[in-house]
Amino acid sequence: MMWQWHELTNETKIALEQLQILQMAKLDFNGKSICVTRLEEGFFGIQNTCPHAGAQLHHGHCNKRGVVTCPLHGYKFDMKSGRSVDGNNYKINHYPFKIEDDKLWIGIKQY
Ligand code: FES
Repeated sequence: MMWQWHELTNETKIALEQLQILQMAKLDFNGKSICVTRLEEGFFGIQNTCPHAGAQLHHGHCNKRGVVTCPLHGYKFDMKSGRSVDGNNYKINHYPFKIEDDKLWIGIKQY
């Protein structure tokens, strides 16, 4: 498995840079709806659709460790790995970000 890196537009970069730490937003990219949050160490993304019953995770809450709580039934996901952290055994899509050449890039898994 490898990450394929995609450059985001400058508008997207500017919009995400306006997020406060722990604030979440929805990013539509390449047909995917992604829940993005900002931690001290940078941006992290997971699929925005909760695998339990389809709530939008960006309406939930994120803590300092990067754990997102779904707004509907409170299932918890790690933004950095996409894994459940509440014993529910889900593994959802996650998306790393990086800044390189003053541009913001998102990683999408390539199998
Ligand atoms: S829809 Fe997310 S926990 Fe139920």
